[in-house]
Amino acid sequence: MKYHIAVIKGDGIGPEVIDEAVKVLQAVGTRYGHSFQYTYLKAGGDAIDACGQCLPEETVQKAKESDAVLLGAVGGPKWDSLPGAERPERALLGLRKALGLFANLRPAIMFDALKDACPLKPEKVAGGLDLLVVRELTGGIYFGERGTKETADMGLAAYDVEQYSEKEVERIAEIAFQMAMKRNKKVTSVDKANVLESSRLWRKTVARVAEKYPQVTLENFYVDNAAMQLVYDPKQFDVLVTSNIFGDILSDEASMITGSIGMLPSASLAEGAFGMYEPVHGSAPDIAGTGKANPIAAILSAGMLLRYTLGLTTEADAIEQAVKDVLKEGWRTADIAQADSKAASTAEMGSLIAEKIR
Ligand code: IPM
Ligand code: MN
Repeated sequence: MKYHIAVIKGDGIGPEVIDEAVKVLQAVGTRYGHSFQYTYLKAGGDAIDACGQCLPEETVQKAKESDAVLLGAVGGPKWDSLPGAERPERALLGLRKALGLFANLRPAIMFDALKDACPLKPEKVAGGLDLLVVRELTGGIYFGERGTKETADMGLAAYDVEQYSEKEVERIAEIAFQMAMKRNKKVTSVDKANVLESSRLWRKTVARVAEKYPQVTLENFYVDNAAMQLVYDPKQFDVLVTSNIFGDILSDEASMITGSIGMLPSASLAEGAFGMYEPVHGSAPDIAGTGKANPIAAILSAGMLLRYTLGLTTEADAIEQAVKDVLKEGWRTADIAQADSKAASTAEMGSLIAEKIR
């Protein structure tokens, strides 16, 4: 089969980790007889430098015409002084909205070979850790009404509105329950329903969706408690579903407790099969170009692309297995190096994984 993939390398270590993901996709193509066609597009600082705006119309258009998007990372100190609306990060928010990517899947998996990197006590994570944060990605406070206004006696005020509709909550809850059905059949919905009206609607709507999934256990946690429970007893969680802002925060926390934030992929899905896939880590400008970046998150993101958009389960499994095998052999990039490990550069790590697949 022939597939069209839009590739946005972006800034910092984005280009170098995406090169390795493409290397691995090529190996998958060779081994399983697929042809991947890549359209390289600009977004973020890269696009600002080339054409003065972080998300050119052409990028959105070509991305829409593709089967899926693979993205590296955007942003860096070079563009930090730009006003909010012109920053590279805006490109991400713009892409999510323009492509309708309402469901963000952020798996937090502890790799057995890396369990010493987990910052929690070993007994808290005995037997491994595998949870999935399902973050609503195109609604809530990141996209609500915003502005500034003068107050009578408190100076200038600024506001951002948190708003969720039933439809928005229903569709993200559906995704969470469907994911839970394929996993351990437990959904934890996270909100702040003791304070926020939007959270009360969220909770009621999730409960209604839950009725369609009687085999799945639903729990409701307030976000402050969820943040605490994640470090106290992370193994109690299977699927966490939550709003855009809470999901942003909790997914960083969840990824850190696995000890391998440099290894975690993500998927952002639209209605249907279309999706955008990117490593959870950022552009890490301090190590860009040094060969120290870990390409595994980008490679696993390509794996998620095969699994969720193209439906190529065997091929996706092969990528995950290859990553585990290479780690088991002791190969490590600088960020996950251990005393007795074998050092691999970004490109060497990509080649080792590609070789296993080929
Ligand atoms: C993320 C990032 C983005 C977000 C930023 C860069 C806009 O933190 O993908 O989690 O807040 O969604
Ligand atoms: Mn974030």
